Amino acid sequence: MAILVTGGAGYIGSHTAIELIQAGYEVVIVDDYSNSKPAVIDRIEELSGKRPAFHEVNICDKDKLREVFEAHELEAVIHFAGFKAVGESVLEPLKYYNNNLNGTIVLMELMNAFDVKNIVFSSSATVYGMNNTAPFTEDMPLSTTNPYGTTKLFIEQFIKDQAAADKDWSAALLRYFNPIGAHQSGRIGEDPNDIPNNLMPYITQVAVGKREQLSVFGSDYDTPDGTGVRDYIHVVDLAKGHLLALENVLKTTGVEPYNLGTGVGYSVLDVVKAFEKANDVAIPYQLVERRPGDIGTSYADATKAKAELGWETEFSLEDMCRDSWNWQKSNPNGYA
Ligand code: UFG
Repeated sequence: MAILVTGGAGYIGSHTAIELIQAGYEVVIVDDYSNSKPAVIDRIEELSGKRPAFHEVNICDKDKLREVFEAHELEAVIHFAGFKAVGESVLEPLKYYNNNLNGTIVLMELMNAFDVKNIVFSSSATVYGMNNTAPFTEDMPLSTTNPYGTTKLFIEQFIKDQAAADKDWSAALLRYFNPIGAHQSGRIGEDPNDIPNNLMPYITQVAVGKREQLSVFGSDYDTPDGTGVRDYIHVVDLAKGHLLALENVLKTTGVEPYNLGTGVGYSVLDVVKAFEKANDVAIPYQLVERRPGDIGTSYADATKAKAELGWETEFSLEDMCRDSWNWQKSNPNGYA
């Protein structure tokens, strides 16, 4: 029996594939390489000692995805595939709804058809919207501020509705906070197309000399130093959370959301300082206007994942900064 990993060549998917293989699971990856590179599959093999089965498929393509279900005996799906740039989703909402929502519907229809009713879904803390106060708990009211976030919220609802209609379904909705860091080997990591939207890849590109300075978006938030506070989590801790969620999904039914965060918030300037200290490099920055749609403070109440999945984070902010830099400096142009 195998685990289908959609989007398994991406940043979080590739780290999760390694953890799965190392834990003894047979892994089947589907990815259309829209935001990833073929070299990732070689590196998963290099780091885990086993090459996962791979199919270059866009999950909206039902005929091609059906062939994957026919070719492998699947017991569960870990669903990462989807577009994820917040700003782009505001400019091209239909592209996001078409890809993320249709792709998931096709995937879930095939899961039903092939009696594969276990799913771990890559959701986001973005579903807590702008009206809750951190720490966020799983039972808070949900809302979103952009089409990307809306696709995460809708997909959570698709899965809840399907599990209500068919009691054999079992699902974990994993609400990630801010994943950063990279595999300790420096062989896989985050490789954004174009100009990075997110803080850590921007910092590492400044450190490597590709960008002149960091723009810090907003210095008048109600936070200790005025800059935005987030719950940064090492991508390897996050990947391990998927393994524990999968084990739980395989032995239960029904749907449960889980926050995957450390429970600790750091400001943008905390991250800049931690990066400079861990790596002995300077990160020049300027304070600029707030970025539309950003909230001041976001961090998790992570007690549910600990209590029910036995999941706890191991890595510190210093580890995250060291591993992000190790990846960037040994791969200045990503996988290219
Ligand atoms: N930031 C900067 N400069 C930058 C980039 C980011 O100051 O160049 C700041 C942001 O304003 C924010 C913090 O750094 O305060 C983190 O920003 P990111 O873009 O790295 O992450 P976000 O918290 O905005 O977004 C993340 C995920 C989204 C998800 C969102 C809400 O990337 O997928 O969390 O959960 F929707």
